[in-house]
Amino acid sequence: MSEARQRATAIAATERALAAEFAATRDLSEGLAAHLSDADATMQSMEDASPAKWHLAHTTWFWETFLLRDHALGYELYDADWPFLFNSYYEAEGARIDRFSRGLLSRPTLDQILAWRAHVNAAMDALIDVSEHEPLIRLGIAHEQQHQELLLTDIKHALFQNPAGPAMFENAQRPSAEAAQLGWHTHPGGIASIGHNGTGFAFDCEGPNHRALLEPFALADRLVTNGEWQEFIDDGGYADAAHWLADGWAWVQAEGIAAPLYWRDSDAGAQHFTHTGWQSRDPHAPVTHISYFEADAYAAWAGYRLPTEFEWEAIAWGQRGGDAPAHDPDGGNQLDAAAPPMPRGGTDLFGDCWTFTRSAYLPYPRFQPAEGAVGEYNGKFMSGQFVLKGASCATVRGHSRPSYRNFFYPHQRWQFTGLRLAKDI
Ligand code: AVJ
Ligand code: FE
Repeated sequence: MSEARQRATAIAATERALAAEFAATRDLSEGLAAHLSDADATMQSMEDASPAKWHLAHTTWFWETFLLRDHALGYELYDADWPFLFNSYYEAEGARIDRFSRGLLSRPTLDQILAWRAHVNAAMDALIDVSEHEPLIRLGIAHEQQHQELLLTDIKHALFQNPAGPAMFENAQRPSAEAAQLGWHTHPGGIASIGHNGTGFAFDCEGPNHRALLEPFALADRLVTNGEWQEFIDDGGYADAAHWLADGWAWVQAEGIAAPLYWRDSDAGAQHFTHTGWQSRDPHAPVTHISYFEADAYAAWAGYRLPTEFEWEAIAWGQRGGDAPAHDPDGGNQLDAAAPPMPRGGTDLFGDCWTFTRSAYLPYPRFQPAEGAVGEYNGKFMSGQFVLKGASCATVRGHSRPSYRNFFYPHQRWQFTGLRLAKDI
């Protein structure tokens, strides 16, 4: 084969892979939607959460705006009134409805949104062949994957509001194996290489790659479990200010917090609300739906601390080996299909629950947001939030990597958040 032929073959293979990833991503969103009625998909239970229908539409708006409108010759918007409804927060893209009005959009209907999705999917087919668009297409895929996780956590919160405890999926709960005794990954400290190393897609906030200085530390080899969290409760953990950050204590008092979100103790025993309705809590499964404040209080009570994002990442790179691919294709309990996400426990760093770190979500040295509207994607949120590492049972497999930085405000707990302890050595 000539060199030119070889190059053409390689490009064609990349395009086929990208087209397959695009199609799989769009299909999974629609697969999740297939478990919801239009009414289910229209509910918005709080300002932080969006209706499932809005997620399906907003991701489609993202493709239509940043790929088709900007790069497909002669493309006309499917409905020129919809950007006002489905632009999330891009100031450069103009005005939009208030965040807490997303649940008031009874129309367009779920079917209309699905028809828009099909239209955009067909139009995208032509663009995927243009290799200069690969970076933006990879951003669009990663964006839709983030919204798949948000769709799942948002609908869980919405269904939870219904006293009847409706299930999105049939029960598929498997009891967890007994959690192993806590072990530790130790690290001698030194200069760590932090951030995206240039292999494969990453969000802008994961770079630039830079050095961080670590002191010797140890990171737990598994997450804290429901059973361990119950001990914290039984010991009066939520009632003793000594364990809590001042902001956390104020939050516990103001909101009357006494357990993780979705926990209840009823005649049926210790339960939690899940995508399969109310289920008994497995003491061996990782605790989830805790806030940063709760994670920090538990760690203080237990005599440990939260890891920094740099400590977590140093352990993750150490496990991975420097030359290994940056993404996480296997292992761990992550989302593989339209099926109920549920933390199970194990020793993987990725999957089950996002791990809180005590690192503020701040720009890395020399960080510059991208030019144009997509520059608003991450950078403008670097104020008052904390970094979470790893991935959860609702994160589609392949989405995360050691440099990945998720971020939330310290009181938020409707994501599959969890706690992995750390200590100085
Ligand atoms: C990384 C989950 C905090 O919810 O705003 C979705 C993900 N960014 N669309 C968010 C995101 C743009 C982001 N989080
Ligand atoms: Fe978005």
